[in-house]
Amino acid sequence: MLEQLTHVEQAALAALEAAQDEAAIEQWRVAHLGRSAPLMQVFDQLGTLAKEERPAVGRRANEVKKAIEAAFAARSETLRQLTLARSLTSERLDVTLPGRRAPLGRLHPDTQTLRELYHVFGEMGFQVFRSREVETDEYNFQLLNFPVGHPARDMQDTYFVAIGAPRGDNPVVLRTHTSPGQIHAMRAYAAMNPDNPPPVRIVLPGMCYRYEQVTTRHETQFDQLEGLAVGPGITFGDLKGTLADMARRLFGQATRTRFRASYFPFTEPSAEFDIECFLCGGEGCGVCKGSGWLEIGGCGMVHPVVLRNGGYDPKRYTGYAFGLGPQRIAMLKNRIDDIRLFWQNDLRFLEQF
Ligand code: DAH
Repeated sequence: MLEQLTHVEQAALAALEAAQDEAAIEQWRVAHLGRSAPLMQVFDQLGTLAKEERPAVGRRANEVKKAIEAAFAARSETLRQLTLARSLTSERLDVTLPGRRAPLGRLHPDTQTLRELYHVFGEMGFQVFRSREVETDEYNFQLLNFPVGHPARDMQDTYFVAIGAPRGDNPVVLRTHTSPGQIHAMRAYAAMNPDNPPPVRIVLPGMCYRYEQVTTRHETQFDQLEGLAVGPGITFGDLKGTLADMARRLFGQATRTRFRASYFPFTEPSAEFDIECFLCGGEGCGVCKGSGWLEIGGCGMVHPVVLRNGGYDPKRYTGYAFGLGPQRIAMLKNRIDDIRLFWQNDLRFLEQF
């Protein structure tokens, strides 16, 4: 029996040496320490032994059990370390490698220009006022002094919404310009104190839509930045000073400006606003088509009819308004020669800004 135990011990230890991974060692555990392992059978047979034999065999059996249990624990630990070492080499991480650059987003050139404009006008005391893109004919035209059938409507080919609905005299349209925001804003301000409406100094940004033939200079969707100042005693001089200052802040202190008489139904008098071409300094080049001047927007003194429609008494208040094309400004500043690039979302274009 004692010999048999030595045998059991040697066989178990030899088999343990051969176990190379966790599965093998688990198999080994079942085979050599499990319920039906040879060693356990020795324990089971203890009762059948002669009385004098029993203590020696029992002691030896316990020794063997302790020895192979200790060997098992040691081997498990060795294997665990081995597995760890193997995975450390196979999944090696080179901590000296440079990191991968996270792709950074950037602002669209139009957004950049708008933010510059907000900043410039913000410094002059203007607040941003947003109004809707879907308008009624009344706001988009009538209240701005374009009565139904007025020929000036031809300048703004209009998209009508609510197809099939009876149009009547007040169809729903996509706004063709940001000017209807003037009425919304004046009415909102006047509502604060109808007998004594507060002064207004705002810029109104946003998308506009026109049924245009799409070319390098015209899109069916574009944005505008409208400006409006209303208060007692505002003059055309204030308008000129504000726009000239804006041009200097945006394009440099030496930038010269000029105003040319024009016509808009909602301003009187009205003007077209030009800046000296900053590419050629007024000499004449391809961008300004040899004239030395670049047209930036329209402007004028708010028409008395429009003031009244906004809730401001034209006997007590005057005001000026202007409309700028941020995309046109972005095109001039960045020498973009095709307005269609703006909303195509081509990364090769957007990544340049
Ligand atoms: N709404 C005009 C347009 O889209 C631009 C404009 C001209 C706006 C003169 C104004 C202005 O506020 O005073 O053609």
